[in-house]
Amino acid sequence: MNALELHSVCKSYGAHRALDNINLSVPTGSRTVIVGPSGSGKTTLLRMIAGFEFPDAGRLSLNGQTLVDATHEVPAHQRQIGYVPQDGALFPHMTVAANIGFGLAVKGQEKRERIAQLMDSVALEANMAERWPHELSGGQQQRVALARALAQQPRLMLLDEPFSALDTGLRAAMRKLVARLLADAGVTTILVTHDQSEALSFADQLAVMRDGRLVQSGHPLDLYRHPSDEQTALFLGDAVVMPARIEAGWAHCDLGRIPVNNHRNNRCAQIMLRPEQLQLVSILPSVAEPTGCRAVVTERDFSGNTCTLTVELEPLPSADQPGRSLLVRSSGLYAPPTGSAVHVSTIGHAHVLSEP
Ligand SMILES: Nc1ncnc2c1ncn2[C@@H]1O[C@H](COP(=O)(O)OP(=O)(O)OP(=O)(O)O)[C@@H](O)[C@H]1O
Ligand SMILES: [Mg+2]
Repeated sequence: MNALELHSVCKSYGAHRALDNINLSVPTGSRTVIVGPSGSGKTTLLRMIAGFEFPDAGRLSLNGQTLVDATHEVPAHQRQIGYVPQDGALFPHMTVAANIGFGLAVKGQEKRERIAQLMDSVALEANMAERWPHELSGGQQQRVALARALAQQPRLMLLDEPFSALDTGLRAAMRKLVARLLADAGVTTILVTHDQSEALSFADQLAVMRDGRLVQSGHPLDLYRHPSDEQTALFLGDAVVMPARIEAGWAHCDLGRIPVNNHRNNRCAQIMLRPEQLQLVSILPSVAEPTGCRAVVTERDFSGNTCTLTVELEPLPSADQPGRSLLVRSSGLYAPPTGSAVHVSTIGHAHVLSEP
């Protein structure tokens, strides 16, 4: 069953269309992640679901209850929706404990215990309870905002870049912790992030926004493998995009013949491969030639467990231009050095992109 449904939602600020005909279903208990370039409408969408913005047209419902349509509007405080805004927005005149306990119905010792539990659940030390928001780091403020939203036991949780102020290690740990907390509580969640790996690892459903429109949504693996167009492909990670002639389920391109997953015959199109679908084998004079195209490694970007290489394909004898440059993701430890001659082969299918 779907918890949240958005039907044809539109919102303009003056002449600017911030949300353009958004349709989205968020299944109960799921984690939906929204990604998109800055200004694409992500925060506007969350604020509308929370009840702080109102659509010009369209309908929103939660668990079958209409939140807003042309004739009807449930105010924000009656929606039971937790919202952690992009800047945390803590009450500056209240301590950490008072911020977290703001909407708690219980009092006295029970309230203190609940606040302590909530602080513990977002990895905030107990001795921070009496600090003021301006005495906290950005990441600590984000965790207080998260605890304050969790305290409300919401039906739906909206998180607008809640981990952006945390360092990489803490960010990954918090992401896991919050995912577990929300799953244990069975809270349906929508998260906005700029971080590709966060989006791909946190989401059950990923939605990509651009210019106020929802351009694609689905399972993260499906979007990563089958993005609708080049911009979406590049938004979710590195991509190798090149022209090809598609014929009988095969793409004929500078890398030779590669099977495609979504073919329309006899046409020229752009195809996409992820850099980890390219494999390099060093060319050693003493060993028989492996199969694949010949190339030279021109750049190496070592980042620990992986290494991103740029290779330049050997130009075809008839060509008057240098060979195509491609990105290849290789193991960090065993990547061939710059200048070495390699053979490039591919694994899996290429994906045919739609026309821009
Ligand atoms: N209150 C407002 N008045 C006028 N324009 C607004 C208002 N709020 C947002 N906008 C505009 O609507 C568009 C979408 O803004 P929004 O804040 O939703 O983007 P975003 O995707 O969250 O961006 P970011 O990733 O930078 O947070 C932007 O062009 C923004 O300037
Ligand atoms: Mg935003």
